[in-house]
Amino acid sequence: MKLVKAIVRPSRLPDVLRALYAADITGLTVSRVRGHGGEVEVVETYRGTTVKMEMHDKVMIDIGVSDTFVDIAVDAICGSAATGNVGDGKIFVLPVERVVRVRTGEEDVAAVTPVR
Ligand SMILES: Nc1ncnc2c1ncn2[C@@H]1O[C@H](COP(=O)(O)OP(=O)(O)OP(=O)(O)O)[C@@H](O)[C@H]1O
Ligand SMILES: [Mg+2]
Repeated sequence: MKLVKAIVRPSRLPDVLRALYAADITGLTVSRVRGHGGEVEVVETYRGTTVKMEMHDKVMIDIGVSDTFVDIAVDAICGSAATGNVGDGKIFVLPVERVVRVRTGEEDVAAVTPVR
């Protein structure tokens, strides 16, 4: 199992959710976050050079998936979140040790949605 952690533009969220749903991926968590990417904003001041890190509003989508769904999720997100401009976002894939469905006690691949 893996946790697919995607940080994307808030304006792309509806399309990303649609693409994930179309790929049978419905178990997810969405959070509003602020972040900074690889860009460097340099501000010249009279005392010298200052680097300013501006925080941008983003949404983070956490999706627990079985291994077979990792590429499906990543492709769905890339295809729906991209505008072609800097700041389109980033996807991290993390190993997951254990998943438990509270209602049934099912664990691991049986507990992530969906199972294939
Ligand atoms: N290395 C990182 N670690 C954690 N979060 C990151 C990292 N890089 C980007 N992020 C998060 O992803 C958001 C979007 O990043 P962004 O798309 O600007 O990445 P980038 O590497 O600068 O790519 P681009 O050149 O397309 O802008 C950031 O605002 C931040 O929240
Ligand atoms: Mg960037």
